[in-house]
Amino acid sequence: MYSAVLCVAAAERRFPDGFKFGIATSSYQIEGGWNASDKGVSIWDHFVHTKPEAIGDRSNGDVACDSYHKWREDIQLLEDLNVDFYRFSISWPRVLPTGFPNYISEDGARYYSDLIDGLLEKGIEPVVTMYHWDLPQPLQDLGGWTNPLISEWFADYARVIYDLYGDRVKIWVTINEATAVCDIGYDDLHAPGLESEGRGSYLCTKHVLLAHAKAYRLYEAEYKLKYQGQVSLTNQMMWLEPETVEDTELTELAIALSIDRYCYPIFSLAGGWPPALERYMAQKSAQEGEPRSRLPPFTQEEIQLVRGSYDYLGLNHYTTHTARPAASGETIGTYLIDGFKELDVKLGTRPEWSSTASGWLKVYPEGFRALLSYIKQQYGDTSIYIMENGFPDAGTDLDDQPRVDYYTSYLEQVLLAMEEDGVNVVGYSAWSLMDSFEWNDGYQVRLGLHHVDFTSPARTRTARRSAKYYAAVARTKDIDAEYQFDKIADE
Ligand code: NOJ
Repeated sequence: MYSAVLCVAAAERRFPDGFKFGIATSSYQIEGGWNASDKGVSIWDHFVHTKPEAIGDRSNGDVACDSYHKWREDIQLLEDLNVDFYRFSISWPRVLPTGFPNYISEDGARYYSDLIDGLLEKGIEPVVTMYHWDLPQPLQDLGGWTNPLISEWFADYARVIYDLYGDRVKIWVTINEATAVCDIGYDDLHAPGLESEGRGSYLCTKHVLLAHAKAYRLYEAEYKLKYQGQVSLTNQMMWLEPETVEDTELTELAIALSIDRYCYPIFSLAGGWPPALERYMAQKSAQEGEPRSRLPPFTQEEIQLVRGSYDYLGLNHYTTHTARPAASGETIGTYLIDGFKELDVKLGTRPEWSSTASGWLKVYPEGFRALLSYIKQQYGDTSIYIMENGFPDAGTDLDDQPRVDYYTSYLEQVLLAMEEDGVNVVGYSAWSLMDSFEWNDGYQVRLGLHHVDFTSPARTRTARRSAKYYAAVARTKDIDAEYQFDKIADE
């Protein structure tokens, strides 16, 4: 009887055969070995050591999951998950301790080379992020992402990485979540912990886009023919709904600020800044007595450089917020979490969206489908990789049923977007392989399919229920067949 039920479910909620399932991590969050061998200091090393109070539990990533030493064990976990790919990031200062390419760390370079070889031996494809927020501190001392020269420095770093690993890595992600790098990093929450929202943040946005584009063009000109890989970036895309219908226009502007600012220059046919945002910023800056827009213009040459610099579209999605105008005198806190000071927009949620261990993350799966449809309508039918999606909890329970439910419901929306709305999603990566250093939340918030015991020197990893669920999904491409079986078997 149960098998009949299973067959129906399998036929109804199954991803196509070629669809790829993966899982993701990032260097600072899992590696540890912060000063191993000749590794240089990153802005996150510097931030947590000089401003420990910025982290909820005053922890840091000095040891984290100790993946610098335990990567072989991690490959075993990946194998057990049946994933097609593993998305990890390279720590720029581990490979280039000063940030510049005149000195390459042999140990750093070997670490990632061994990891890549180990994955390929198991038939797991490496998907490599070049920058997941751990900028070499010496570059920060020169202005970091607000210095226009950084796009050259990034391209120099990319060249080293392509030379080292381009023969084996076919999917590259230049930069992870530019909005976190620029908007949260310049709103005093993330490293470098500077307060320059609306000025430093926009310089950063422009230079991140140029850095990405230069790394893309370099690959296109010198490596693509030989290696046949794909290069793009992945952006954080929180979906926004108007709180009431009257808030629709404002919400569209908020989407232009938070999503399109990072996408339109690359993925639109016209290139350059999203027109509505550019107009708004020009007017507002003039009213404020600024000599020019705070959103720095692109030259025609820069527009051409950035426009079309992609082989796929990468996105990270976790949640949806509502948007409305801030009431008079109402304060707007951190960018993306509480609102957008630039637009006087306050973000909120609806009471029926359930809560998680992270204040900013409410469960509203339908928002995922709405976002994917928007991306298709705005940017066409390019292949989409969902590079991150996941559920935070306090991490105490190995039986993490709410996480399983989150994945089931969000994956269902991806499938609906593909089947009903014709969105071209080709791959999906869960976040994350294991509990790790969750930035300002330290280790108090966990997103791992594997529990990590941060009190034991061995950093023991233990599969949660969600790991078993995801292993079944990755193997069968079916959202719930095995899971239903599991549930029935438990009852
Ligand atoms: C996105 C980031 O890329 C990742 O580093 C972080 O852990 C997750 N969001 C969850 O907050």
